[in-house]
Amino acid sequence: MNVLVIGSGGREHALCYCLARSAKLDKLFILPGNAGTAGIGTNIPGDADDIDLALSVARQESIDLTIIGPEDPLAAGMADAFEAAGLRVFGPRAEAARLEADKAFAKQLMRQYVIPTAEARTFTDYPAAREYIATRDEPVVVKASGLAKGKGVIVCNDPSDAILAAEDMLVKRTFGEAGARIVVEEKLLGQEASLLAIVDGHTTYLLEPAQDHKRLSDNDQGPNTGGMGSFSPSPLVEADALQKIQAQILVPTLDALVHEGIHYRGILYLGLMFTTAGPKVLEFNCRFGDPETQAILPRLRSDLLELLDATVDGRLEEACNVAAGPRTGRVEWDPRHALCVVMASGGYPGKYPTGLPITGLPENTDDLIVFHAGTKRAGDQIVTSGGRVLGVTALGETLADARRRVYDVVEQIHFEGAHYRTDLGS
Ligand code: AMP
Ligand code: GLY
Repeated sequence: MNVLVIGSGGREHALCYCLARSAKLDKLFILPGNAGTAGIGTNIPGDADDIDLALSVARQESIDLTIIGPEDPLAAGMADAFEAAGLRVFGPRAEAARLEADKAFAKQLMRQYVIPTAEARTFTDYPAAREYIATRDEPVVVKASGLAKGKGVIVCNDPSDAILAAEDMLVKRTFGEAGARIVVEEKLLGQEASLLAIVDGHTTYLLEPAQDHKRLSDNDQGPNTGGMGSFSPSPLVEADALQKIQAQILVPTLDALVHEGIHYRGILYLGLMFTTAGPKVLEFNCRFGDPETQAILPRLRSDLLELLDATVDGRLEEACNVAAGPRTGRVEWDPRHALCVVMASGGYPGKYPTGLPITGLPENTDDLIVFHAGTKRAGDQIVTSGGRVLGVTALGETLADARRRVYDVVEQIHFEGAHYRTDLGS
């Protein structure tokens, strides 16, 4: 099969790394990819949001399957455009991607179908939001309803901070149109995990659970980022929790979508908080998580391309033998622990320099992989080109083993101003 992957991050490098192991793969193209994906397939220069370009690449290169990585092209209808053109695509249509791209819609759906989540109200009017927040005794979280690159969520311990956040979004439009509508919700307490389900329209298969470290600095300090690291499996999601999540969250969400006439095909990502009252949904995403994918996929022993291909054809049940149960079907996983540490540009998630040479990159092995994100080739050098630059993943018999191995490598890699957390997996 000829495959096209849309996107340029660590998630897309991890997808390519796994796809390259498939006996079914002929040619691999990435739009636009990075210096890491260039070593696996052919990078096509351009923009991951350019639907016309993606369609023309798919036609020109006789692509059998296109896999859309990021949320922006999904929300903009790239999957719809591929389907309309009769091209096979992995990723939900725009109306289904609203689960991520429109948090107010997702909240409304959860309320209507009694899916456990934080209590919330939606506002477009600043004075009304201010009045509501002022009456709350408990801390709240203020969220831009639209897509804001993972940065549109402000967790506030104090009502005055929440009022400022609401003003920033609704009046000053710090997140542009994404913040023209906001969700104000109760702050939940607990630990977080990410659970990714492959959905083919009627069958779902749960990938191994992961946890993500969203805060910039050690001890969960500093601002939220796209994610500074991840590990898999997660001790939070043992068999009984998994059953609860399936029964109380996953199945009702998919039933709700069917009831609303929304066809879902692709990854449904559940961002969960494990509260004393049980698991609750923090967010839905309509795609593979980044950097969760860099910890999950290196543990997948089965053929990723076969899984994604089967999903597109509605053959997931047969491909996974789902009936045997979420962890006992046909899909095989490495029982070891994977830990991914993200190396970011100095200044991220704010402004950062680019074009800085990266040195000390090791050769990838089966259990130690440097996934590229914001990198590109410049002459015979690899240089930085984004906020999150690399994700280094190691596998180990224990999380502590993986941690030792990953930091040994991270300490050898250098670019000016590199920032990474030193407490991951500890
Ligand atoms: P989201 O993009 O909605 O997942 O939010 C990003 C991060 O903000 C989450 O991973 C949580 O750490 C935090 N967060 C979001 N919603 C809440 C909430 N209701 N209570 C506490 N923390 C939250
Ligand atoms: N790591 C969180 C996300 O992919 O949205």
